[in-house]
Amino acid sequence: MKKAITFTLFAILSSFPCAAAVSGEAVYQKRCAGCHDHAGESTPPRDTLKQLSVARIMRTLDFGVMINVAYVLSREEREAVANYLGVERPDAPVPSQAYCADRTVNIGASPSPAWKGWGPDLSNTRYTTTSGITLDQVGKLKLKWAYAFEGDVSSFGAPTVLGHTLFVGSAGGAVQALSTDSGCVHWVYQASGPVRTAMVAVPNGKTHVLVFSDLTGWTYGVEAETGRLLWKKKPEPHDTTRLTGSAAVHDGVVFVPAASWEETRSSNPEYPCCTFRGSVTALRAKDGTEVWKTYTIREKPHEIEKIAGSVGTWGPSGAGVWGSPTLDAKRGLLYIATGDNFSTPATDMSDSVLALEVKTGRIVWSKQVTPGDIFSGVCSGGKCPGPDYDFGSSVIIEKLPNGREILLAGQKSGVVYALDPDHKGEILWQTRVGKGGTNGGVQWGMASDGQKVYAAVSDLVRKPVPGAVVQVGLPPDPTQGGGLTALRISNGEKVWYAAPQPCGTSPKCSPAQPAAVTAIPGVVFSGSVDGHLRAFATEDGRVLWDFNTARDYQTANGVPGKGGSLDGAGPVIVGGMLFVNSGYARNGGSPGNVLLAFAPEE
Ligand code: HEC
Repeated sequence: MKKAITFTLFAILSSFPCAAAVSGEAVYQKRCAGCHDHAGESTPPRDTLKQLSVARIMRTLDFGVMINVAYVLSREEREAVANYLGVERPDAPVPSQAYCADRTVNIGASPSPAWKGWGPDLSNTRYTTTSGITLDQVGKLKLKWAYAFEGDVSSFGAPTVLGHTLFVGSAGGAVQALSTDSGCVHWVYQASGPVRTAMVAVPNGKTHVLVFSDLTGWTYGVEAETGRLLWKKKPEPHDTTRLTGSAAVHDGVVFVPAASWEETRSSNPEYPCCTFRGSVTALRAKDGTEVWKTYTIREKPHEIEKIAGSVGTWGPSGAGVWGSPTLDAKRGLLYIATGDNFSTPATDMSDSVLALEVKTGRIVWSKQVTPGDIFSGVCSGGKCPGPDYDFGSSVIIEKLPNGREILLAGQKSGVVYALDPDHKGEILWQTRVGKGGTNGGVQWGMASDGQKVYAAVSDLVRKPVPGAVVQVGLPPDPTQGGGLTALRISNGEKVWYAAPQPCGTSPKCSPAQPAAVTAIPGVVFSGSVDGHLRAFATEDGRVLWDFNTARDYQTANGVPGKGGSLDGAGPVIVGGMLFVNSGYARNGGSPGNVLLAFAPEE
C-alpha cells in the first residue's frame, strides 16, 4: 500500500490517531483557513465545506475548483484535510429512476456499432466511415438526451461505445455504463480518482475486461458486463503520476501511458524538483500483471549540482506520455509522443515521437523535434529554458493515397509533423498551424480522413485582472486563440483555414479550440472553450452546424445538468449518434457537468 492509501481506507485508519501521519486540521489552518474562515462573496465558508462528502472534497482538490490551491499538497495532506472537513457518506448515489429497466450489458464477441478506446481503432485517426451519420444529416443534429455527473464541475471522460452501451468516466471518478438509446444507467463503478481515459474492452472468456486509468495513478480492470472490479494497480509508483492517456490493446495486453503533474507541483519551493519519468507499462488485461515497462528517460534521476542555468535539484525528469499509444500491428511497433523535461539535464527523448517494440517495449527509434525543452514550476517568472512544447496528443498512423504509410503528430508548439515510419521517424514535412505555448497549439488531438489532417489549435492566452491579489485562475483573453486548419497529408500543404468565430460577451469567453477533433466523411467536428460544438465541411471549412452547449439541461438521470467549455476528449460519433462532454473548469474554462447525445432528426 505504501503511500497510495485510498481515502476509504484512510478513513478507517484515521480513526486510530497514531496511524494518521498528517494532521488534517494543521493542513486546513495552513492552506485553507486564510480564505474559508474569512469567506468573501464567492468563497464557501468552512461550515459549508463541512456538509460536503469526503470524496467530493477530494475531487475538488484533485480536479475541481481548488486545483490551483491544492497543487502544493501531497496525497496524504489532501486526504487528511478532506477527512478533517468532510462527512463520510456514499458519494453521488445513483437515483433509482436513473437505472435502466433492463440492466443487462451485452456487448458480444465483436460489438457493432463500436467506437473503441481513443481511436476509434488502433491507428487513432479519430475518423470513422461507419458512424451512421451522413454529411446531409449533420445540419439536422438535435439533442436526444443529456446525462449529468453529480457534483462535478468538469466533464472530461472520453466515451467508448460498444454496441448499445456507452462507457464513460467522470471528474468524480464514477465510471458508468449507460444505454446509448436513452442514457439510462446499467452500472456505476466508483474509482479512487478522476477518470478521463477512454476504456478498452478485452475479451476474457464469455465476458470482457474493461481497462481504464485515473488521475491519481491507478489502472483498473473491471468486468464490462457488471462493473465488478477484477484488479487495480499502479503501473508507475511515483506519487505525482497522472494517467490521462487511454490504454492501447493488443493480444490481451494493454499498454498504459504515464504522465505527471510534477511540472505544476514543483512551483512549491519546498518540493525537490523533479524525479518523475514518463513511461509505458504493458499489463496483462486479465489480471493486471506486468509484461514490460519502458521509461522515456533511460537514466534514473539523481541529485544535481546547482549551477548557473540549471533547473531544479533532481533530474533528469519529465517526458511524460499524455496521449494514447498507437499500435502498428504490421511492424510490431507502438508509437508514443512525449512531453517536455521538468528539470536539468535535458534528455534526448523529450518532445519526441518514439517507436517501441510491442513484444518487449524496446525503443526501436526516437525522433526529437524540440531539444532542450526544460519547463516547470521551479522556474516560474519566465526563466525556463524551454518553451513548454509537449506532445499532448496521440500519434496517427495514416495511409497515403499512394499506399505508403506516414505518422502524423501535432504539438503544443502549433506545428504538425509527418514522420516516416520506415526511416526511423525521419521528418517528411512540418507545417505551422498555430502560435503555440503552454496552452497553445494542438492540445488533445487531430483527425485524419486519408486525404487531409484536421488540426484545431488552442492558443489560449490568460489575461491578468488589474488589481487582483490572489489570482486563482485568470480569465482567458476573448480575442486570442482558436482556428482549424486542414493540411494535405501527402505534402503538408494548407488546403483551408477556418478562422475562430468571435466569442460572446461573458467574462470567461474564449474562442480557443483545445478539444480533440473528430471526422466522418465530409465533416469535421471541433469544440471550443466558449462551449460551441461546430461541424465544418472537410471540403472548404464552411460551418455546417453549430450548437452552443453552455446552457442548463434536464437530464436522463434527474441530476441538474449544466454545459460549459469544450476541452479534452472530443466528440465520439457512432451508431447514428454523436456524444460529447461539456464543462471544463480549468485553464480559464467554464464549469459544466454533462454528457450530451445528439442524433439527426428524422
Ligand atoms: C485563495 C483562497 C482559497 C484557498 C487558499 C482555499 N480555497 Fe477553497 N475555495 C475558494 C473559493 C473562492 C471557492 C469557490 C470557487 C467557485 O465556486 O468557483 C472555493 C471552493 C472550495 C470548495 C468547493 C465547495 C463546493 O461547493 O463544492 C472546496 C471543497 C474547497 N474550496 C476546499 C478547500 C480546501 C480543502 C482548501 C485548503 C487545502 C481550500 N479550499 C483553500 C477559495 C480558497
